[in-house]
Amino acid sequence: MEVSNVEQPLYMTEENSVEVVLARMKECSDPRFRMIMTSIIMHLHAVIKEIEPTQDEWYAAIHFLTQTGQTCTDTRQEWILLSDVLGVSMLVDTINNRKPSGATESTVLGPFHVSGAPERELGDNICLDGKGMPVVVSGRVTDTNGSPIAGATLDVWMANEDGFYDVQQPGIQPGMNLRGIFHSDADGRYWFRSARPQYYPIPGDGPVGRLLKLSGRHDLRPAHLHVIVTGLGYEPVVTHCFDRKSPYLDSDPVFGVKESLILDFEDHNDQERASQLGIGNPFATVTMDFVLVSSQLGSSPKTENVAR
Ligand code: BEZ
Ligand code: FE
Repeated sequence: MEVSNVEQPLYMTEENSVEVVLARMKECSDPRFRMIMTSIIMHLHAVIKEIEPTQDEWYAAIHFLTQTGQTCTDTRQEWILLSDVLGVSMLVDTINNRKPSGATESTVLGPFHVSGAPERELGDNICLDGKGMPVVVSGRVTDTNGSPIAGATLDVWMANEDGFYDVQQPGIQPGMNLRGIFHSDADGRYWFRSARPQYYPIPGDGPVGRLLKLSGRHDLRPAHLHVIVTGLGYEPVVTHCFDRKSPYLDSDPVFGVKESLILDFEDHNDQERASQLGIGNPFATVTMDFVLVSSQLGSSPKTENVAR
């Protein structure tokens, strides 16, 4: 809706509410901000006109938003969690990561990434609490033509067997448990040892958890590990690897699952190979390849409206 100077109504009625509010922005000189606020006001008023909330319902909504803010701490971000469970985080992520076909798809970052994870050697075991079934994760980092990317960085993190990240259990789990930064070799290959991921709940003891319950939804994320892959001259990708055998793949509370990110974990019962690998038996293996897009080919939401 255009904001013009001609014959703007001064006072608000139910019918002219959008027009009256938008007219107050005529001095706004930032076109992007003005466009965003215009859209928000138009949609917000449309929602209110559709719902026609009672005054008590409106106060309940304000109370919910207040609690969402009050639940945030240095280590907990309830607003992002709200955005996650409403599907907004994934929508923003998808809009900002339109990629050519074959490139590794992105998914939600989540709240448990820590910068400064320890640098590891290829093959290292990042499972410091010794819990869970051992898993060997390996693969290759290439460009969209299949050429290896040497020296790519893989920043990996995951929850432990009990479904918690190390930062959720200080003093219980070893610091930097199940985290590490690896670098691909000259052929783009990498491998490391860890524990097979388990499904686990997102923080459900706050307003977002109550919203999920009221909506008849559960709070369990399917088993996954997180990776950020970066390479010089390539667009970084923030992504996950999901276990095809995990429950909840079709009902992830944060909508982070994409078909291309679901991988087959192979089960092994082979004491000799386990001993060679320096892990317990039985164990699992998974191959997770990454395809990065050159920064020159990079997409942005404004310039490339593909994959809609
Ligand atoms: C996670 O996978 O770590 C996560 C993502 C979104 C919300 C909560 C947790
Ligand atoms: Fe996670």
